[in-house]
Amino acid sequence: MTQRFSRIAGTGSYLPPRRVTNQDMVAELAARGIETSDEWIVERTGIQARHFALPNVTASDLAVPAACAALKAAGVTAADIDLVIVATSTPDMVFPSTATIVQHKLSQKALAEGGVGMAGCPAFDVQAVCSGFIYALTVADAMIARGAANRALVIGAEVFSRIIDFNDRTTCVLFGDGAGAVVLEASDQPGVLATDLHADGQYVDILCVPGHVSGGQILGDPLLKMDGQAVFKLAINVLEKSARTVLKKAGKQESDIDWLIPHQANIRIMQGTARKLRLPMEKMVVTVQDHGNTSAASIPLALDHGVRNGQVKSGQLVLLEGVGGGFTWGSVLFNL
Ligand code: UT7
Repeated sequence: MTQRFSRIAGTGSYLPPRRVTNQDMVAELAARGIETSDEWIVERTGIQARHFALPNVTASDLAVPAACAALKAAGVTAADIDLVIVATSTPDMVFPSTATIVQHKLSQKALAEGGVGMAGCPAFDVQAVCSGFIYALTVADAMIARGAANRALVIGAEVFSRIIDFNDRTTCVLFGDGAGAVVLEASDQPGVLATDLHADGQYVDILCVPGHVSGGQILGDPLLKMDGQAVFKLAINVLEKSARTVLKKAGKQESDIDWLIPHQANIRIMQGTARKLRLPMEKMVVTVQDHGNTSAASIPLALDHGVRNGQVKSGQLVLLEGVGGGFTWGSVLFNL
């Protein structure tokens, strides 16, 4: 029996139209009596702008156009998909999953266009905060390799603007909204070469939204809390280790990597990771300046950006790396 692998057949992404520059944030915070500056944000994070969704726009609303773009790029339709996984920490509802909502919206769209829907295929969310897309891609790869699916839509979608505390200047300037997606399909050639996932719950408190739902109400604080420096130090350390793990599993060297596409949280973390792996910055896709930190959406957004602007090409070796709340981290190494 030939071995089954998975490979990325198409990518897509979507950003809500409202672009908010650092100058806009300075004005927004000044109105609240809070001081920040474009210089501070650029120097400490590399971020120049982010996109915010309108109040009535949900994660699934961002996920659907990203998914449609990925389907188109892969040359398939919704009816060809037999698995939907959405990585998100800002789901439309407590339940059901955002993935089921995305599945339904894609079906409705396909039917309205005279096509065939996708009702019946498995759909579920993955919650691993900024590592969510790496977790989702790893699960989809394993399901395809096992024969449990043939063609998956793997999406990262976030409306982090909903959980930002605009009275906390140390976090509110960092995050943005958006969605990215890939179509991952079965192949007799790899595709995905190696994956690596980790979590360490002792660090729950350094990046969390501590509120919870009880009796139909949110109890506790529903807004994001972060110890930025603790996250920063852990991130640089674990990203290097995880990169080395997938390279070793696949029998590859650092110098074999054509593109490093890390979670886009902070340019200084990204530069530190590249330095440790002895990769020039020219081998890294960087979108943090335009998108801010879009959590689970950031890696597929950056991947799609790199593919569409001609940087990342078919046949190249790509390393994706995620890190975030939990604490969670991981990597996926693949040939595009
Ligand atoms: O997606 C999950 C992963 N998350 C991350 O990767 C975030 C990781 N952490 C970071 O990116 C950085 O730690 C931050 C960007 C969050 C902060 O940068 P930093 O260099 O660690 O700054 P800091 O927290 O040490 O703060 C330095 C100073 C402080 O003032 P004092 O105490 O030195 O007077 C802050 O109050 O900068 C001040 N500060 C600000 N000043 C202007 C903090 N936020 C702001 C702000 N504008 N927005």
